[in-house]
Amino acid sequence: MAVDVLLGLQWGDEGKGKIVDVLSPEFDLIARFQGGPNAGHTLEFEGKKFVLNTIPSGIFLENTMNLIGNGVVIDPIALKRELDQLKKSGYDLLTKKNLLISKKAHLLLPTHTVLDTASEGKMGHNKIGSTLKGIGPCYMDKTGRNGLRIGDITLPDFRERYQNLVRKHASILQAFYGTTIDFSEIEQAFFEGIELLKQFPLVDSEHLIHDYLKQGKKVLAEGAQGTLLDIDFGSYPFVTSSNTITAGACTGLGINPKQIAEVIGIFKAYSTRVGNGPFPTELQDENGDKLRNQGREYGANTGRPRRTGWIDLPALRYAILINGVTQLVLTKADVLSHFETIQICTHYNYNGEIIDHMPYDISTIAPTPILKEMPGWQQDISQIKDAVQIPPQLQDYIRFLEEQLEVPVKYLSVGPDRLQTLVL
Ligand code: GDP
Ligand code: IMO
Ligand code: MG
Repeated sequence: MAVDVLLGLQWGDEGKGKIVDVLSPEFDLIARFQGGPNAGHTLEFEGKKFVLNTIPSGIFLENTMNLIGNGVVIDPIALKRELDQLKKSGYDLLTKKNLLISKKAHLLLPTHTVLDTASEGKMGHNKIGSTLKGIGPCYMDKTGRNGLRIGDITLPDFRERYQNLVRKHASILQAFYGTTIDFSEIEQAFFEGIELLKQFPLVDSEHLIHDYLKQGKKVLAEGAQGTLLDIDFGSYPFVTSSNTITAGACTGLGINPKQIAEVIGIFKAYSTRVGNGPFPTELQDENGDKLRNQGREYGANTGRPRRTGWIDLPALRYAILINGVTQLVLTKADVLSHFETIQICTHYNYNGEIIDHMPYDISTIAPTPILKEMPGWQQDISQIKDAVQIPPQLQDYIRFLEEQLEVPVKYLSVGPDRLQTLVL
């Protein structure tokens, strides 16, 4: 009777989509527990590439059910676009019947997206660097108790409820941002999305998950974003608007903490961040460019170039602590094949003090990373199929990370394809 949780330990884009797809055959249900269309989870197999935003990454497997949990915010326009795209590629989820949607998930309205853009525009240089998908305003309505939920779409007065909320958004837009917008066109797309949503099973997902568990079925909770973007524990205010951590799986799915078994933490062999906010190990030099180019570090969702830097152990220790990580997955080790030497940030010099953890404020007082150098392996590892083929320098690198992080690295990812994954 257990749920495993898989989540990102950095600033997102650690390779969660790929690893969920790899692990899916072991699970009966893959359940997304937070975030929304701000996520971009990439999967590659059999020469095909898919980017999923709201849909869980288990949909390509036969016999695995997928659930969009109550903690997720759903934009019907974005979801329809995603479903239409999948259908064109031969994956019609309505026919496959492998997607369930929680009635308690919140609806993201077109006006949330407009509010997000208006808010970021007004903040100028101080903007969060949001994906502009409407995430912040939608979660604000959820916690402000104004929100609309998926279960509401079948109510006879849904349109009226929708219009009431839109009126509120329009008055905020006008009063605070001086913007007036004609929603008629986008409204049509919204209601088309709503009609499509109605064709999927809208479920009491907390009961469904508990029934799965009672029957001895295995559930994997799929996180979005990363721990350092968590609303409570990330580098606030440069964060997303949900709890991206293990606790988020409890609130985002209705499971209790005692039901969580393995917590699988994913991290890249280096760091990236897209959007604004502190990034202690950031490299703004040729090594940073090299990481970006070799790692193809451009947003799966927005196409923005990702900021790049060396691996940050104080940040990872913090993420492991908060999440209770029991197994690690190291991704994109192949990207470091092009480096003669590799740097690892083991500690920070913070205000003159050497510390090994992430302090409260890294925005106004920037920590200086203390780096340890290790030799690179300088060989192509993207085709290796067995752990015994791992070059000794990479073995040393992994061993060092395990010692420092005190959690075993169970999987090593050496390329974007499903098959480029080693069990250690
Ligand atoms: P997610 O948001 O955590 O699912 O990650 P993204 O899909 O946004 O970004 C990860 C990117 O790295 C995608 O383009 C993946 O195809 C790719 N990727 C995943 N694992 C590996 C790996 O081990 N090596 C390389 N080179 N690319 C990888
Ligand atoms: P996946 O699931 C990387 C970042 C944005 C911005 C901040 C707030 O693919 O790892 P938001 O749109 O949530 O209001 O943006 O969070 N961000 C992500 N960065 N990967 C993601 O998702 C992200 N989702 C949001 O760039 O800095
Ligand atoms: Mg991503």
